[in-house]
Amino acid sequence: MGQGASLAAVLEVVEGAPAKAAARAVLALARAAAELSAVIARPAVEGRLGTTTGGANVDGDAQRKLDLIAEDLCRSALESAGVGPYLSEENDAPVSLDPKGTVAVAIDPLDGSSNIDVNGVIGTIFSVLPARGPDPAVSFFQSGRSQIAAGFFMYGPQTTLVLSLGRGVDVFALDRTAGEFVLVEQSLKIPEGTPEYAINASNHRQWREAVRNYIDDCLRGADGPHGKTYNMRWAGSLVADAFRIFSRGGIFLYPADGRKGYDQGRLRLLYEASPIAFLAEQAGGAATDGERPILDIVPHRPHERAPLVMGSADKVERVRRYHQDVELAHAQPMGLSGARA
Ligand code: F6P
Repeated sequence: MGQGASLAAVLEVVEGAPAKAAARAVLALARAAAELSAVIARPAVEGRLGTTTGGANVDGDAQRKLDLIAEDLCRSALESAGVGPYLSEENDAPVSLDPKGTVAVAIDPLDGSSNIDVNGVIGTIFSVLPARGPDPAVSFFQSGRSQIAAGFFMYGPQTTLVLSLGRGVDVFALDRTAGEFVLVEQSLKIPEGTPEYAINASNHRQWREAVRNYIDDCLRGADGPHGKTYNMRWAGSLVADAFRIFSRGGIFLYPADGRKGYDQGRLRLLYEASPIAFLAEQAGGAATDGERPILDIVPHRPHERAPLVMGSADKVERVRRYHQDVELAHAQPMGLSGARA
C-alpha cells in the first residue's frame, strides 16, 4: 500500500486473527487520538490544559485534566474495539474491558504531560499483547517480544502515528480535513552514524559509571574515542525524543541513577520502554536497559520501570560495551585455581 493510503486501508489487509484484533484496537485508538489532538489544540480557556485535578497517578506524577480526558478517550475507544485486559498509567491495576477480548493493551494515554503547560509535544504510547487467562494482570507478565503491535501518537505541529505490527515501522499523519490518518512513510529505518545523544544531563552526578563514561566520551568530541563532535537534544517527552531518533538517528538514554526511586530509571516498562523498544528493533535499531534487550525482560509488576537505551544499533551496542568494560574493571582478579585472589 502506497503513501497517502488511509490507516484503515492499511490495517484492512493484515492477516491472522491476532493481527486483526490488534488492528481493531489501533484503529479505535487512532479515532481517540484524532479527538484528543483537537482537544489539545483548543485554546485553554476552558481550563483543560495546565490545571491539575489534585490527583496523582501510580507514580506520584500530578494528574492534569488532560491526562484524565486522554484516559477516558483511550479507554472507551478500546472498550468498543473488544479489547480484553487493559493497563493504563492512570490506574493502579489492570482491568478487563471485554472478557472475550483476545488482545490486551498497555497504554500511557498522555506521555510527557509536564510539557502540557508549556505547549510542548506530548503523546500516547501503546502496546498490544495477546490476552492470557481470566486474570487481567497475567497478560502483562509476558516479555515485549510477544507484542503483536506497538506504537505512539505524537501531538506536535502535526499529529503523527508511528506504528509496527511486527513487519517494519510505518508512519502516518493525521489529515484533519479528511479526519483520518494517512501513510506518510513506509518501512522507516533509524539512520546510523548520527552524532547526537539525548539524556537528562542534570542527573550526571547520579549516573552509574558506564553511562557517565559514555557521555563524557561524547562530550570529548572529535578528540575523544568516538572521534566525532556530538550534538545534544532533550525534549523531556519520550515520544518527541523517540520520534527524533526514528527520523534522524542518534541515541536516547534514560538510565538508572542514584536518586531515590530511580534505581530502574524513570520510564515504565510496559507502556513506555517496551513499545518503543519494539519499534526500535523493527526499524533496524536496538533498545536495551544498558546491557540486555528490553524486549527480553519479563515484567513482574504492572507499573515496573526499566532503564532505556534506545537508538541506532551501533550506538546502543557501544553503550553495552561501556557497561561490560566497567564490570570487567571491577571484577576481582581470579587465581589459577579459579578462586578469587
Ligand atoms: O515518563 C514520563 C516522561 O515525561 C517521559 O516522557 C520523558 O522521557 C521523561 O519522563 C522526562 O524525564 P525528566 O523529567 O527527567 O526530563
